[in-house]
Amino acid sequence: MNKEKVETVANELNTLLADYHLYYQKLRNFHWNIVGPNFFELHEKFEEMYDDAKVKVDEIAERILTLRHQPTSNFSQYLEMTNLSESPTDLEDAEMVNVLLEDHGKLIVQMNKVLSKVEEAGDNGTDDLIGAYIADLEKTSWMLDAWTMKKKATYHTA
Ligand SMILES: [Fe+2]
Repeated sequence: MNKEKVETVANELNTLLADYHLYYQKLRNFHWNIVGPNFFELHEKFEEMYDDAKVKVDEIAERILTLRHQPTSNFSQYLEMTNLSESPTDLEDAEMVNVLLEDHGKLIVQMNKVLSKVEEAGDNGTDDLIGAYIADLEKTSWMLDAWTMKKKATYHTA
């Protein structure tokens, strides 16, 4: 691998690490604060999503270490670096889902920034890891989209 170019990959991964911390905590926020008729399904779905995010947080940090760089490790720094913003605790269920769909878009933009750096660096390991993350997020986005559609259909027939 090209040492200098690898640093640019590690920098973009650190921004992604910051994004994933915000995303993880937002999922916990929504898991705790969801109310209403969709409580059971969304409470559980958000838990499944934050369990997945927790694994990815660790994998991203350890990929940065594998590249012999330092993962950012403090929340004050994550808040300065992230592309995401925190959410209030009193959103409606459909608003929560919309916020997460927007965040998936932002995460995918950052993942594509990582991927734009891997080729020059000769970093196929990061390429594989992040490529798989994009596919995972796209699948979860489809599920959330489908949930939104079901909800609209329910409203129309009510
Ligand atoms: Fe819980």
